[in-house]
Amino acid sequence: MARPPSQSNPTQEAKPKRSNLLRYIAMIILALIILVGIAVIIIWLVLRPKRLEYSVENAAIHNFNLTDANHLYANFDFTIRAYNPNSRVSIYYDTVEVSVLYEDQTLATNAVHPFFQSHKNVTRLHVGLTAQTVTVYESVLKDLRLERSSRDIELDLWMRATIRFKVGVWKSKHRILKIFCSPVLLHFNKHISFQRIPCDVEF
Ligand SMILES: *[C@@H]1O[C@H](CO)[C@@H](O)[C@H](O)[C@H]1NC(C)=O
Ligand SMILES: *[C@@H]1O[C@H](CO)[C@@H](O)[C@H](O)[C@H]1NC(C)=O
Repeated sequence: MARPPSQSNPTQEAKPKRSNLLRYIAMIILALIILVGIAVIIIWLVLRPKRLEYSVENAAIHNFNLTDANHLYANFDFTIRAYNPNSRVSIYYDTVEVSVLYEDQTLATNAVHPFFQSHKNVTRLHVGLTAQTVTVYESVLKDLRLERSSRDIELDLWMRATIRFKVGVWKSKHRILKIFCSPVLLHFNKHISFQRIPCDVEF
C-alpha cells in the first residue's frame, strides 16, 4: 500500500504548480493587453476625430486714423466661421481670445463669449476689435501709411481658445487651441468684397 516515493515527495509537486500559476498570470496579462488594444481601436474607429475647421468669412476696417505721433486708431469687424466636422465629438469653448496683428505687432485684442459647439455644427463668431491709440513702431508706421494709400491692408488674425471635448457624458481636460489666419486682406473701399481666408488650426 505504500505510495510511490515520487508522489509523496512535496518538493517535486510544488515545481509544476508554481509554473502553472506563472503561466496563468502571463495569459491574464496578455489577454488584458489585447483587450485594451481592441478597446482603443474601437474608440478610435467610433470617434474618428477630425480637425476643426476655421475660416475668416468677412472682415472690415472702419475709422482708420493714423496720427502724427505714431498712434493708430481703428475698428475691425470679423466674421469667423467655426466648423466642427466630428459626428460624435462636441466642444466646449471656455475662453476665446482674438487678436489682430500687423507685422507681428498686436493692434487689438478682444474676447469672445464662451460657447458650446455640438457635432457637425457651424458657428459664426462676430468679433469687433478696436485699436485705440496704439503706439506703433516707426517701421510699422511707414508701412501702414503706404498701405493706407494703396487702399487695402494686410493683417493677421490670431485666436487662442481653451477647449474641452465632450463625447457622450465623458469630458476631456482643457486643451489649448491655436488658430492662425494669414494674410487677411482688408479693403478700405467698402464696395470691394472680401475674399474668404482659411485658417491654420493647431492643438
Ligand atoms: C484722426 O485723429 C485726430 C487726432 O485725434 C483727429 O484730429 C482727426 O480728426 C481724426 N481724423 C479722422 C478722419 O477721424
Ligand atoms: C450651431 O450651434 C449654434 C449654437 O447652439 C446654433 O445657434 C446654430 O443654429 C447651430 N448651427 C447648425 C448649422 O446646426
